[in-house]
Amino acid sequence: MGDATADMAAEDTERDYLAVEVHTPGIANLLALAEARGLTNVRVARGDAIELLRRHLEPASLDAVNVFFPDPWPKLRHHKRRLIQPGHVDVVRSRLIPGGALRCATDSAAYAEHMLRTLTADDQLINAFDGFAPRPTYRPLTKFEQRGIDAGRSVFDLVFLRR
Ligand SMILES: C[S@@+](CC[C@H](N)C(=O)[O-])C[C@H]1O[C@@H](n2cnc3c(N)ncnc32)[C@H](O)[C@@H]1O
Repeated sequence: MGDATADMAAEDTERDYLAVEVHTPGIANLLALAEARGLTNVRVARGDAIELLRRHLEPASLDAVNVFFPDPWPKLRHHKRRLIQPGHVDVVRSRLIPGGALRCATDSAAYAEHMLRTLTADDQLINAFDGFAPRPTYRPLTKFEQRGIDAGRSVFDLVFLRR
C-alpha cells in the first residue's frame, strides 16, 4: 500500500523514488501518503515493473532497485510469473548504475533460495554478503511482513551489486 516507499522516501529526501504497482488502491494510497507528508521525491507508475524498466528507463539510470515481498508464486507452473527470474534480472541489472544495488526481501523460503540461485548465477552481479543479507535498516517493517512474522515465517534479504 506504499507505506514502505513513503517511509524510505521521507528518510532519504536527497534521492528520488519511483514506485511501480499494478494494484490501483496501492497507488492511490501512496499518492495520498506522499501528499499528506509533503514528499516531493516520490513518483508512482501504474503497470508492470519489468515493462517500465525495459521500455521507459534508460540503462544505468538507477542507484538501486527494491523488490520487497514480491508474490512468491509457489506452484511450479506459475514460476514464470515471478519477478525475479533470469530474463528479468538482465533488464533490472542493465538499468542499475555500476555499483548499484538490487535489494530483495521475501518471507518465502523457497523463493528466497530461487532468488539466491538466480542472482548468484548472473556473473555481472556480486553478492554484497555471503549468502543472505542481514535485515537492512533502510527497509521499513510493513503490515505484510509483520503478518508473516506473526505466522512464524522467516524473512530473507538479498543485496546484489552490479559490477
Ligand atoms: C505480496 S505484495 C507485497 C507488497 C509490498 N511490497 C509489501 O511488502 O507490503 C506484492 C505486490 O506486488 C505487486 N505486483 C505483482 N507483480 C507486479 C509487477 N509485475 N509489477 C508491479 N507490481 C507488481 C502486486 O500488485 C502486489 O501489490
